[in-house]
Amino acid sequence: MFTIIRIPETDSTNDELKRRAEVGAPALTVLTADRQTAGKGRLGRSFFSPDGGLYMSILFRTFADPGLLVTAAAAAVSEAVEALTDRACAIKWVNDVYADGKKICGILAEAAYGADGAFRYAILGIGVNLYARFPADLSRAGALFDAPPPADFRDRLLHAILDRFAAYYCDLPNKPHLSAYRRRMFLPGRDVELLLGGEPRPAHVLGLDDDFRLLVRFPEGERALSSGEVGRVLL
Ligand code: BTN
Repeated sequence: MFTIIRIPETDSTNDELKRRAEVGAPALTVLTADRQTAGKGRLGRSFFSPDGGLYMSILFRTFADPGLLVTAAAAAVSEAVEALTDRACAIKWVNDVYADGKKICGILAEAAYGADGAFRYAILGIGVNLYARFPADLSRAGALFDAPPPADFRDRLLHAILDRFAAYYCDLPNKPHLSAYRRRMFLPGRDVELLLGGEPRPAHVLGLDDDFRLLVRFPEGERALSSGEVGRVLL
């Protein structure tokens, strides 16, 4: 199903795959790099990407709901990590995977549209921290291992993620990953600060609806959010 290309280094596997998409890379090309010099995160942030991580991007040439791609990837990464290590994963809505309170994986979906507004392609990027020493300002970041993992681990994890993701992707409109995702969410029942349009607002998380919307209670009432970012988790 996937055509896998491995390179030692690039600026960002998402950007490198975009460049390859523009010159004809086929659907479901997967590009992995050992390190990124300009790894990208959500909301214009950077993603720390030293040696010792799994940085991968997947190219889609038929439209798929980006929210479903991202949530399927979060479920697939969680299951793959749990199958290959003794770490249990928790998902922070919408696209972060945690282990023992530290973020070990970030996911970024991007899409390209033509001048006429027609969908051209989408790229789903996944970064898993396997082993790294993080700078002090990345206090929320963690890695799967305290020491470099066995040489073949990165490849085994790549295949485990792709196997699980492929099963979800084949049936994506039916949201086959809903229960695997929901079961691992750690926000329901917690008080959080939600960043909506850049403004932090206190809210209480109630759960997840069947469209992967976060159900929250604000002082003025309940809402289902399809986008936004959870800033601080207060309780
Ligand atoms: C986030 O946590 O904000 C999203 C991080 C996404 C990182 C991955 S690593 C592979 C791919 N290439 C990038 O430049 N970003 C994504």
